Amino acid sequence: MSVLSHLLVLFLHLVPGVVCQVKEFVSIDCGGTSNYTDPNTGLEWISDMGCIRHGKVVKIESPNGDRQQYQRRRDFPTDGKKYCYNLSTKERRRYLVRATFQYGNLDNGDTYPKFQLYLDATLWSAITVLDASRVYVKEMIIRAPSTSIDVCLCCASTGSPFLSTLELRPLNLSMYATDYEDDFFLNVAARVNFGAPSKDAIRYPDDPYDRIWDSDLNKRQNYLVGVAPGTERISTSKDIDIRTREYPPVKVMQTAVVGSKGRLSYRLNLEGFPANARAYAYLAEIEDLGRNETRKFSMQQPHVPDYSNAVVNIAENANGSYTLYEPSYMNVSLDFVLTFSLVKTLDSTHGPLLNAIEISKYVQIIPKTDDRYVAVLDALHSMSPESDWTLEEGDPCIPAHWEWVTCSSSKPPRVTKIALSKKNLKGKIPPELIHLEDLTELWLDGNSLSGPIPDLSSLISLTILHLENNRLTGPIPSYLGDLPSIQELYVGNNSLSGKIPRTLLTGKLVFNYDGNPELIQGTQHKKNFKLILGTSVGAFVIFVVFLLGSLLLLRNLRRKASHEKSSEKRDSLHIIAKPSTAYSLVRGGYLMDESVAYYFTLSELEEATQNFSKKIGKGSFGPVYYGKIKNGKEVAVKILANASSHGTHQFENEVALLSRIHHRNLVPLIGYCDEAHQQILVYEYMHNGTLQDHIHDSVNQKRLDWLSRLFIAEDAAKGLEYLHTGCNPSIIHRDVKTSNILLDINLRAKVSDFGLSRQTDDNLSHVSSVARGTVGYLDPEYYANQQLTEKSDVYSFGVVLLELISGRKPFSMEDYGAEWNIVYWARSLIRKGDVVRIIDPSLAGNVKIESLWRIAEVAILSVEPHGVSRPKMQEITLAIQDAIKIEKGSRGNYENSSGSSTMQFSRKTLLSDFLDIESSDLSNGYVLPSAR
Ligand SMILES: *[C@@H]1O[C@H](CO)[C@@H](O)[C@H](O)[C@H]1NC(C)=O
Ligand SMILES: *[C@@H]1O[C@H](CO)[C@@H](O)[C@H](O)[C@H]1NC(C)=O
Ligand SMILES: *[C@@H]1O[C@H](CO)[C@@H](O)[C@H](O)[C@H]1NC(C)=O
Ligand SMILES: *[C@@H]1O[C@H](CO)[C@@H](O)[C@H](O)[C@H]1NC(C)=O
Ligand SMILES: *[C@@H]1O[C@H](CO)[C@@H](O)[C@H](O)[C@H]1NC(C)=O
Ligand SMILES: *[C@@H]1O[C@H](CO)[C@@H](O)[C@H](O)[C@H]1NC(C)=O
Repeated sequence: MSVLSHLLVLFLHLVPGVVCQVKEFVSIDCGGTSNYTDPNTGLEWISDMGCIRHGKVVKIESPNGDRQQYQRRRDFPTDGKKYCYNLSTKERRRYLVRATFQYGNLDNGDTYPKFQLYLDATLWSAITVLDASRVYVKEMIIRAPSTSIDVCLCCASTGSPFLSTLELRPLNLSMYATDYEDDFFLNVAARVNFGAPSKDAIRYPDDPYDRIWDSDLNKRQNYLVGVAPGTERISTSKDIDIRTREYPPVKVMQTAVVGSKGRLSYRLNLEGFPANARAYAYLAEIEDLGRNETRKFSMQQPHVPDYSNAVVNIAENANGSYTLYEPSYMNVSLDFVLTFSLVKTLDSTHGPLLNAIEISKYVQIIPKTDDRYVAVLDALHSMSPESDWTLEEGDPCIPAHWEWVTCSSSKPPRVTKIALSKKNLKGKIPPELIHLEDLTELWLDGNSLSGPIPDLSSLISLTILHLENNRLTGPIPSYLGDLPSIQELYVGNNSLSGKIPRTLLTGKLVFNYDGNPELIQGTQHKKNFKLILGTSVGAFVIFVVFLLGSLLLLRNLRRKASHEKSSEKRDSLHIIAKPSTAYSLVRGGYLMDESVAYYFTLSELEEATQNFSKKIGKGSFGPVYYGKIKNGKEVAVKILANASSHGTHQFENEVALLSRIHHRNLVPLIGYCDEAHQQILVYEYMHNGTLQDHIHDSVNQKRLDWLSRLFIAEDAAKGLEYLHTGCNPSIIHRDVKTSNILLDINLRAKVSDFGLSRQTDDNLSHVSSVARGTVGYLDPEYYANQQLTEKSDVYSFGVVLLELISGRKPFSMEDYGAEWNIVYWARSLIRKGDVVRIIDPSLAGNVKIESLWRIAEVAILSVEPHGVSRPKMQEITLAIQDAIKIEKGSRGNYENSSGSSTMQFSRKTLLSDFLDIESSDLSNGYVLPSAR
């Protein structure tokens, strides 16, 4: 294939729209020429003609099998650029993304391709074709970081990059959730169905999510070898209960291998390892064991403390035969060669059994170029819509930068140079350019740009600016000469007017302004004085003479313009000023260590609070006052009521501990004071007060809408989750309530009043004499037996969720009658399926019933009488995030009084397994994607 024909093809495929039509399942046949339904699976495939503007279709002469999607592939040019498919997603929804590659045939002389596959800016896989007839499958499990993802091919080292299919499969709500999904994707390395009846993989429609479950008979080099003697294949035709999170298909669970001699072992290569992995074993007892028969085993290899000692008894762990048991590792470190062995225990009558495994590698998400920068580039794009240089896709910087953009290698990358000389740009220079703070060179010369030169005063790294040969009008802004790095400035041949700023004529920079007849230098003579200085000493001398002369002449003028000047000065200050460190102005304070709070003297605090005159509330420990410290920062000053109960030493220890706790959903401690028997803590001031005020004090507050409540709940849940799992020792709040959830200026929530005398160390936590907490929020289990655990906070948080839903107080005789308690009231209504009755009247009509249910369910589980039945904070966070996703999504049913009764019962039975609940609109949809 010659370069020329590559280029030709490139331009033949110019298609206007570039966004693929998105249904629930997206199946793109790359290089395909028509849309069709695959008769084997019933899946609808669409041609990629409408979603990619580059590359050429290559027909494969001897396709392997008759699958239509492998009859053609799409080849991309080998030019160092990247080529991307843009798929729309729902933000925060989890997806399986799959790309497959079958090279098919080897043209004479061609070498096998070797290139890279990216998901957004994250390297997904290096594709190396070694066998032209093999279908290489790459799968990534993601939680969509935004409303679209890019799948990009680039960086070929041999051959041209190509693609056969691209598929996007939405997953059921909580499937494949991990603790790390904010920062990591999951790259699937192995998904094996053991005991498979044939070499065929199992996928859709047996797997409603269309995962590909490889047959264990389908062996490749060093893949599933080292099988222990006595390994037998078994199967059943009975149904298997698969209702746990990951829902492996029943067909996969109906087959297994058994170590009849007491041992099962395998060895396989894991591509991309060593790495940290999410790993699952899928187990179901599919033999009918007699009464005195048992199957118990443990994992001998790889040796993982805790797990390797655990004895698995599938039927017992799953509470029944023919039921899925799904042990997994959230994070295990595995080598490239994985050898695993399961060995029966001495007292077991049967050998180990294994139905399926799934192993995925954690891949750190590489940040994309900041949206603000992309917006600037898009603005420039749109000024020359017809040109070919606007055709590049994906992220402007990674993995390969656009031709006209240069980027830094920082993470995330920053745009450092824009080269758009003679690119036929029309219109005004976009003012958004001011956001490109790392820009060093800007070339916009030789276009048809009009209008004034916009404010570029924060481009402090700019060294070279080319604006010549355009139709710019207006004055030359004076800040240009003050840009700290500027070296060359070209504005010639425009229609600029006004006075040339003096700062540009200092000779420090190369400055060309020829061909602007309207420009005046401010002196009567030499109107079109051209200066290119800095190299020639002679010119410099002339310049100095000229400057002195013009300075004198300008003196009077400048006096008149002094007002204008002072504002210029402010501008230039603004350029250079760096944000000062937050507390550097606090005097008298001393730094204990870098992360520790400042010490304030009592007199400083008296001054800050105007003698404790503005009381803003009462926390769990005492009154709180508003104050303003010397650097202008607003603070909340909290006086501990029972100072004597804390010794100074204990108090300082607690302060040291508190000040090391940093989380965006916890109110930060700034400093403290321990003087004259006063123990005082100084916190950041939260402008929007307490959540309690916003929910219950309807007099002067605008009521929060449901989505705002969900965001607040998410924030607070994350704060508590951090206290429980992110701190060492972990911290139990003990007084979670709406008045301890504070709202900042953006209505984002932070938890306050945590951590004082409350670490979960042995002395304090297990048995303490008095149950602390607030009536209405207090965990009954803790109250009864004084056993304090994280689940007590979960209970209180459940009450907070109920308040958010209902807008009612946690306890009240009037509202709830004899039970006086929101928990009993809400529980009985929710159990009856009548969630509508508990909604805050101010929300009615503006809530999606599905998201409301999601919160109602998790709230009711959180206030279960027994701590063990309550979810962890992490699970609550996930549920709230799901609700947010549902609420934000475009589909879903709005609650209203007439339609509500039909919606209630659809969810009634689902209370028991709250994490596996899917909204009804999805469950109808994905089963038959071809029907959508
Ligand atoms: C295939 O389907 C897509 C999406 O529905 C549509 O945009 C495109 O025009 C169709 N292409 C052909 C060749 O019918
Ligand atoms: C997994 O555990 C390792 C070692 O404890 C840790 O460094 C890593 O951050 C964890 N998470 C991921 C996603 O790798
Ligand atoms: C199980 O019990 C049966 C009789 O009910 C007996 O014949 C058999 O030997 C026992 N098997 C074992 C392993 O104890
Ligand atoms: C276990 O199964 C038994 C019988 O099927 C059932 O009665 C019991 O409630 C189950 N236990 C749990 C914890 O699910
Ligand atoms: C991808 O498509 C979405 C719309 O679905 C659009 O908003 C976004 O700008 C596109 N991204 C790129 C890089 O073209
Ligand atoms: C998610 O998947 C399951 C099983 O595939 C399906 O029954 C259900 O409709 C979806 N939602 C729930 C509640 O699990």
